[in-house]
Amino acid sequence: MAEKINLTLKVWRQNRGEEGRFEIYEAHDIDTDASFLEMMDVVNDKITLAGGEPIAFEHDCREGICGCCGSLVNGKTHGSHERTTLCQLHMRHFKEGETVVIEPFRARAFPVIKDLILDRSGLDHIIAEGGYVSVKTGNAPEASTTPIKKELAEAAMDAAECIGCGACVAACPNGSAMLFTAAKVSQFALLPQGHPERAQRAKDMVAKMDELGFGNCSNEYECAVACPKGIDVKNIARLNREFIKARLTKS
Ligand code: FES
Repeated sequence: MAEKINLTLKVWRQNRGEEGRFEIYEAHDIDTDASFLEMMDVVNDKITLAGGEPIAFEHDCREGICGCCGSLVNGKTHGSHERTTLCQLHMRHFKEGETVVIEPFRARAFPVIKDLILDRSGLDHIIAEGGYVSVKTGNAPEASTTPIKKELAEAAMDAAECIGCGACVAACPNGSAMLFTAAKVSQFALLPQGHPERAQRAKDMVAKMDELGFGNCSNEYECAVACPKGIDVKNIARLNREFIKARLTKS
């Protein structure tokens, strides 16, 4: 049976362009079966009823698939549970009377919009530089006309699991988006459909990443530890190979 716990929350409050500060809130009678975001909903209801401004945080699917949610919880991206998005983190992992510190992801390329909501559009701009496959109009071809080895299909699917939450950027001491970009480049580089544009894709996506102020990768591997989807750092090695080959290829 679900228990109830009481927590003290230290939450980062900030308006765009202004200095931020921590504010303290009490979260009483929280069901241990509730998700972290449901706990935030309960706290926000109380703040609203008292005439205050609710804590702004981002969410959509609440099922670990859209990549909208994400905050630092006690200094860890998406909280302390491995391979778990914030919306899938449950209150049973917290102790009665615990103080929980909640902050936005900290990264130069992710400015705060409000409270825990960040502008992560930089990741979308990287995708727009080549994170897609151009197709001609017409009927979809028969899937079986393009045989793909099982290992390659599985590796491409693993890379495609990236939900673009930005935890990798926040966890990296350099604020690098290499794991994100590597996953997006890899999911196409591994499949024949992605080959015609692979050189341009690697060059353009890396150039955009640099232009937007994401840092360089220095192989800290914090990104892979923070990733709620377990994206492998092998994808970074693949991106490096794709990028070097592309630079050596005339375009
Ligand atoms: S709200 Fe969609 S992944 Fe968390």
